Amino acid sequence: MRIAIVGCGYVADMYMQTLPGLDGLTLLGVFDRDPDRLATFASFHRLHAYPSLDALLADERVECVVNLTNPRSHHEVSLRALESGHHVYSEKPLAMTMAEAEELVTTARARGLALAAAPCNHLSDVVQALRQEVASGRLGRPLLAQAEMDDGMVSALDYPSWRSLSGAPWPAKDEFEVGCTMEHAGYQITPLVALFGPVRRVTAFSALLLPDKGAALGAKDLAPDLSIGVLEFDGGMVARLTNSIIAPADRSLRIVLERGVATLSDVWEYHTPLRISTTGSDLRARAQRFAEKKLSAVMPKLLFGRRVPVRHARQVPRTQGGHRMDFSRGIAQLAAQVERGAPALVGPELALHVTEVTLALQSPAAPGQAQVMRTSLPAP
Ligand SMILES: NC(=O)c1ccc[n+]([C@@H]2O[C@H](COP(=O)([O-])OP(=O)(O)OC[C@H]3O[C@@H](n4cnc5c(N)ncnc54)[C@H](O)[C@@H]3O)[C@@H](O)[C@H]2O)c1
Repeated sequence: MRIAIVGCGYVADMYMQTLPGLDGLTLLGVFDRDPDRLATFASFHRLHAYPSLDALLADERVECVVNLTNPRSHHEVSLRALESGHHVYSEKPLAMTMAEAEELVTTARARGLALAAAPCNHLSDVVQALRQEVASGRLGRPLLAQAEMDDGMVSALDYPSWRSLSGAPWPAKDEFEVGCTMEHAGYQITPLVALFGPVRRVTAFSALLLPDKGAALGAKDLAPDLSIGVLEFDGGMVARLTNSIIAPADRSLRIVLERGVATLSDVWEYHTPLRISTTGSDLRARAQRFAEKKLSAVMPKLLFGRRVPVRHARQVPRTQGGHRMDFSRGIAQLAAQVERGAPALVGPELALHVTEVTLALQSPAAPGQAQVMRTSLPAP
């Protein structure tokens, strides 16, 4: 699939790091509304720079627009791309409101175009291995997920010095105004709904705990820097999801099933270990091991569980962000779906549902009141 990138900022470099080695994608060129950024990025990566969005969209060879602009530009750029007949792969969130997100989905459907949004971490081999463990039924029914998306107290870090490979500064003002929930909740919601199906209700709390962190940046109307939500799934499972740029970094996901616990240490990391512990629920066996005084031998497994061997189809490069996050895998998946009829693992329904759950976490209807989700997904 022939693609073009709009938005040449901080994350675009990470896409450039993860594009090599993915089959079937040809990058024709890039555009950014900031001419200096466009020139720097295009020359750093030796890419064709389109002089305008119109010029990019008028290039008949471009089949898919990869929208890596800031969240508040997503709707505008994706809509232009769809209306001019292009498939779209967008960074998250799909849009900033449900009305905008729904307009994109309706436009894509009406024109028979593909539309999908990041994150794509549910495509990782380790999440697929988790899917198999759950589907095998060995551990029983999934009951509860404990999902953390804490990024540390970012405002206390030296973020003004953070630069992408080609020199883009980390967009702190934008990040604080859009908020960590809109920016990051999808990294937990996407694997959860991909594995366990749609969310029926969300009960959430959100707050802005550090309101003055953007003052020096001229940031206004800062978004919540904490959200905590309870997600009730159609299938009966419950998840507790915390997002913050307050608490120490923790991006773990724990799935508690009837007969064990499956843990991913870091959902941003495509090579994160998957551990299964079956001891917690089996008190009798644990008591017997204690009695047999074999505690020291079994202690690591008791604490952390057995590590499930995972075969990685591709060695994901470590990006400038320090993680092995395969940003471009979602585009390759979209291309495989369009061109080879691959199973629909990314798409408009998933992006829309993740957006609705994310918005419910960011802006709860009323304290303590459950919000019923309007969108859904086929059961996995
Ligand atoms: N920064 C990260 O570490 C990171 C990681 C993962 C995902 N993301 C996501 O990537 C997206 C971009 O974030 P970023 O950090 O690269 O931001 P950024 O500000 O560094 O880059 C965005 C670029 O888009 C350009 N742009 C904005 N609106 C435009 C428009 N209408 N037309 C053309 N160009 C436009 C800006 O000029 C800018 O250069 C966001 O959706 C963000 O959530 C960021």
